[in-house]
Amino acid sequence: MTDAETMTAVLCDRYGAPDTLWLDDVPIPAPAPGEIRVRVHAGTVNRTDTATLRGHPFFARAMTGLLRPKMPTLGMDFAGVVEALGDGVSAFRPGERVFGLSPERFGAHAQYLCLPADGPLARIPGDLAFDEAVVGEGAWYADATTSLLSEGARCLIYGASGAIGSAAVQLAKVRGAHVTAVVGTRHLELAQGLGADRVVNYETEDFTALGERFDLVMDAVGKTSWRACRPLLTPDGIFTATDLGPGWSHLLLSGWCALTGSKRVRLPFPENAPGFVRRLAGLMAEGRFRGVFDRRYRLDEIVEAFRYVETGQKTGIVRIDIP
Ligand SMILES: NC(=O)c1ccc[n+]([C@@H]2O[C@H](COP(=O)([O-])OP(=O)(O)OC[C@H]3O[C@@H](n4cnc5c(N)ncnc54)[C@H](OP(=O)(O)O)[C@@H]3O)[C@@H](O)[C@H]2O)c1
Repeated sequence: MTDAETMTAVLCDRYGAPDTLWLDDVPIPAPAPGEIRVRVHAGTVNRTDTATLRGHPFFARAMTGLLRPKMPTLGMDFAGVVEALGDGVSAFRPGERVFGLSPERFGAHAQYLCLPADGPLARIPGDLAFDEAVVGEGAWYADATTSLLSEGARCLIYGASGAIGSAAVQLAKVRGAHVTAVVGTRHLELAQGLGADRVVNYETEDFTALGERFDLVMDAVGKTSWRACRPLLTPDGIFTATDLGPGWSHLLLSGWCALTGSKRVRLPFPENAPGFVRRLAGLMAEGRFRGVFDRRYRLDEIVEAFRYVETGQKTGIVRIDIP
């Protein structure tokens, strides 16, 4: 598939639907000083990739490029082998198995990826396979909310079957919280298996009428609202969302709360990706965190993978095998 100087990569040169993506041979990138080059074996298509390809929301183009995507190749999660080192890199050796995130320049939908050696990457724990290590994106977003939890806090995670929600259940348990997970019928066993203390089926039960109060309610899939969840909160309880909400209501409310000094409604944005990926590696090594996986696609099926992720019906993570 590749000769000495070129690699296969998925390319995009404009915002649009999945079929704007195409595969091509492009030069293998050279690691700059302080960078490593990874031979990528597994990746994912996640909601950050699909939103970035669409250029939605429009204001995000301030980071991704106003008229067209700045990054020629999408793909944020990766797992692979360190293949070359830029000048000055001593933290990694060629041949080491690594996983991580490329949240700024993306680029993991390709056979090779260069990124800073001190960036969001870590050695893959034990004998975990490449395709079991592509777990970063949803977990990083989940961590932005679950880091608000303290030992013994009671939280409700709405939509605990997505990439963010399934990670949030596990990370909330790591924080010592009591977790109520709200999912549909087909995901009841999954939520139980992730360690939720209580599982509620949103198809048969009104989760807003549980008769319980929570310190934190997280809308992990953008399918509920502050108005619906407000009665579930303790007087100091917090509502968080991962999505802008209907009519950007979550964005507007969280902005209003920030202006007025209230902590009631938040749209937490993840930070410190390098520190998070290293912590995640530790949790995986201890068996306290695992990926939840749905379909897998080959790199040359990337358009189908994007279409499936855009349905909003995936369970956890959609993987890409990179030959
Ligand atoms: N802030 C950011 O930059 C950022 C980054 C990534 C993602 N996001 C947003 O975060 C949200 C979650 O992303 P994700 O990747 O975790 O989602 P996802 O994996 O696409 O979530 C899909 C899951 O949600 C469940 N679901 C669908 N409708 C539901 C409903 N009405 N109630 C409860 N569950 C429902 C589906 O199962 P069932 O239909 O069987 O219930 C499916 O398992 C998305 O809205 C995404 O746009 C934001």
